Amino acid sequence: MNIAANPHVQADQTVYLKDYQKPSFLVESINLDIQVYDDHTVVESTLVMNRQTAGDLVLLGRDLELKSIVLNGKNLEVGQYQLDHEQLVITHAPDQVILNTQVVIHPESNTQLEGLYKAGGDLFVTQNEPEGFRKITFYPDRPDVLAEFTTRVEADKKFPVLLANGNLLETGTVGENRHFAIWQDPTKKPSYLFACVIGDLAVLKDHYTTSEGREVALEIYAIEKDIPKCHIAMEALKHSMRWDEEHYGRPYDLDNYMIVAVSQFNMGAMENKGLNIFNTSCVLADEEYTTDAAIMRVQSVIAHEYFHNWTGNRITCRDWFQLCLKEGLTVFRDQSFSEDLQSAAVQRIDDVAVLKAHQFPEDAGPLSHPPRPDHFVEINNFYTATVYEKGAEINRMMSTLLGKEKFRQGTDEYFHRYDGQAVTVEDWVNALSAGSGVDLSNFLTWYNQPGTPKLEAKGEYDEQNHVYRLSFKQSLKVHPKYPNLKAVPVPVALALFNAETGEQYTLHCQDLFVNEVQDGVYLFDQDTATIEFSNVTQKPVVSLLRNFSAPVNLDFDYSDDELAFLIEYETNGFNQWQASQTLLERILLKDHAVEPYIKAIKNTLPDLVKKDPLLASRLFDVPTEGYLGSRIDHDYKPEAIQEKRNSVLETLARELGAFWKETYLSLDPSLQNDFSQAMGERALKNIMLSMMARQGDDSVFDLAYTQYSQTKNMSERLGALRVLVWNDAPQAQNALDDFYRRYKDEALSLDQWFMVQAANPNATAETIKALTEHPDYDLGTPNRVRSVSGGLSNNPVNAWSFGVEHYIGLAEYFDEKNPILGSRLLQVLSRWYTLAEPQRGNVQNALKDLQPHVKSKNVKETLNSILSV
Ligand code: BES
Ligand code: ZN
Repeated sequence: MNIAANPHVQADQTVYLKDYQKPSFLVESINLDIQVYDDHTVVESTLVMNRQTAGDLVLLGRDLELKSIVLNGKNLEVGQYQLDHEQLVITHAPDQVILNTQVVIHPESNTQLEGLYKAGGDLFVTQNEPEGFRKITFYPDRPDVLAEFTTRVEADKKFPVLLANGNLLETGTVGENRHFAIWQDPTKKPSYLFACVIGDLAVLKDHYTTSEGREVALEIYAIEKDIPKCHIAMEALKHSMRWDEEHYGRPYDLDNYMIVAVSQFNMGAMENKGLNIFNTSCVLADEEYTTDAAIMRVQSVIAHEYFHNWTGNRITCRDWFQLCLKEGLTVFRDQSFSEDLQSAAVQRIDDVAVLKAHQFPEDAGPLSHPPRPDHFVEINNFYTATVYEKGAEINRMMSTLLGKEKFRQGTDEYFHRYDGQAVTVEDWVNALSAGSGVDLSNFLTWYNQPGTPKLEAKGEYDEQNHVYRLSFKQSLKVHPKYPNLKAVPVPVALALFNAETGEQYTLHCQDLFVNEVQDGVYLFDQDTATIEFSNVTQKPVVSLLRNFSAPVNLDFDYSDDELAFLIEYETNGFNQWQASQTLLERILLKDHAVEPYIKAIKNTLPDLVKKDPLLASRLFDVPTEGYLGSRIDHDYKPEAIQEKRNSVLETLARELGAFWKETYLSLDPSLQNDFSQAMGERALKNIMLSMMARQGDDSVFDLAYTQYSQTKNMSERLGALRVLVWNDAPQAQNALDDFYRRYKDEALSLDQWFMVQAANPNATAETIKALTEHPDYDLGTPNRVRSVSGGLSNNPVNAWSFGVEHYIGLAEYFDEKNPILGSRLLQVLSRWYTLAEPQRGNVQNALKDLQPHVKSKNVKETLNSILSV
């Protein structure tokens, strides 16, 4: 047997990038026949295959009951093939093979939500990325095998909707009660993009005409009562289709595009060719039932999955090590789309906040890995913040450096070269370089090594010569598995301000790569370097990493007053925010004085609240306890952080006095026509309420209760509920009961009801127990599970005390039932080693005790990594 090509059989189960081998057989076409019954499903497949290289014919398959196998018309008997729990191997296969198999599977009892599974009473759906297709039929289930799919789906007529990828060729009935549909997808695709849906769903229809004049039927499927909540997604879809034409020259390529909303789904959404499957949380959007944040998320996820059609589907990954090729690029594209949709500064703030809260800590701990990993045990564990968010940042850096026009020339070259192929990260960077005429090959270093670089910068003003010097130094923490860490190219976008007047200097510096007069980009790609600016007539304040031009930890010797200056005078909203966060981090973690911050806020925010409420709402951000904890590498005491943060917030509440209430009373989102403005005002109202509560002003509860009862908007209702519940207001229970009554049949809204209670800083082990024993708590619905476990993780003090048992219990429960989910929930505990004793030892022991009980590759790999610090 060809072991190297099938790393799955290696003893320690680790797969290595360096072992990649081409598949010995390619699949020209596959004919699938899927017959769904109540207690089993029969899958027949016919594969037309041609040999590409020497070696065995390897078909992957998991949990399949093999009923028959026929090769080139001849029945294969046991002994003519080798079968184990992961694969079916045929040695000495001829060069041309037509292979017929029949298997039986059990979607009705598939709790892993991978492959074909039952997602609630009247619905069967698939989730095949990355390796789910092998749970449907025997197949070379790897992304470098591209085939034409024809699918026949047959089921009882109680499931009127039968969908698969591509064009509908034929429908018909089978006997009295059953019917079928045959679909054919004209584009070649890897098996992970296969999808089918069997269910009882309603549909929202629309259409779109592409730049090439193609008429595309657009359909969003959901349960009947959710159809009115699909309009925002539909608009976002059309908008995305236009955006990809305008910004990347990429029109859609099929005659239909379908989206199906599913309430039981492990991820957010999946880009199956022409038939996206979405978690309801990422497609249903309605001001009455979902929050503004959820509405924004729906639009970006719709865009993300749509953009995959070119970056992921038409050009796919050679192997799963290249995952960031499609995900990093597609996240960068969806972020750019969202920047066009709302305020670019606020979108960037939100994206960087996620990067810093999730990717930076991941990259600083035991789960750290390069954006393109070089080995893994379970690929599902590598859909990480590093692959996605850091992957996106690498693309953003290259695009910042190239500018719009050259970046477009680069992407054009990529699509031109590789359309219809399965490629690597090197292919992408090469095409981008060739198309733009700029050699970007040193960006490959970013893909291949772990860790967040530290960027140290120093400024020095030469008063006599009117010269400002900036020196840079970069370094990475030593990593045992990656001994040869190299300097990476760091684009540093910067601006200089006159400290006296607040005005921006025109930049005179020969070392800038992109010089847009006031906003320059310096490409720092050495270990150390110094650059000079001339004609700087007075001591400047420099603003570095504008728009967060590189994913690094910046260490610049700003004075607190300079940071306060930037909060007031930076013209770039993102950098105003960044300055406020840097200053607050010093106040919260290094005991700096709070006065410069408060002064800057007082000078800046009252005006900004009126001009740009959305940006203003972000400028009130105070780093979360979780984020602050992630900045501490040892002797971390969650209680101490909580106490410090509360005291700073109380000072802020007190210092701004009547501002909170006056502002609250002055805002009326219902008068705003623009969604972003209204969203900003709603965010502000909720901030004002919580600051009034911090002031200890009891009248706030009446205001909150009135807001709770009188609004029709979920962000307002939930914001008010949160203030009542988290402050133990007399009205809290009333409001909670009312919320439950209103939304008990609206799963996504009810998730918020669970979340708000689990995230209560005053929650106890009993609170969590009551929530997880509530009749509406459901371990079969990941969204519901995450609403409690995600809420709980909002409070590190709680998460690291009674939360530990909660997470470990879930990891153990889901180990076999839903290992993808189990592994993710366990990752919450990955920074245990930073805790102070005795907590550190307690959590470590709890993790060690779990070790002998887990079986899945997913949970095992995560647990071993977490414990290996
Ligand atoms: N291809 C993924 C879906 C996926 C995720 C499949 C993990 C298998 C494992 C999809 O394109 C995706 O990235 N979805 C994200 C949301 C997106 C907006 C970043 C998700 O599901 O979280
Ligand atoms: Zn994606």
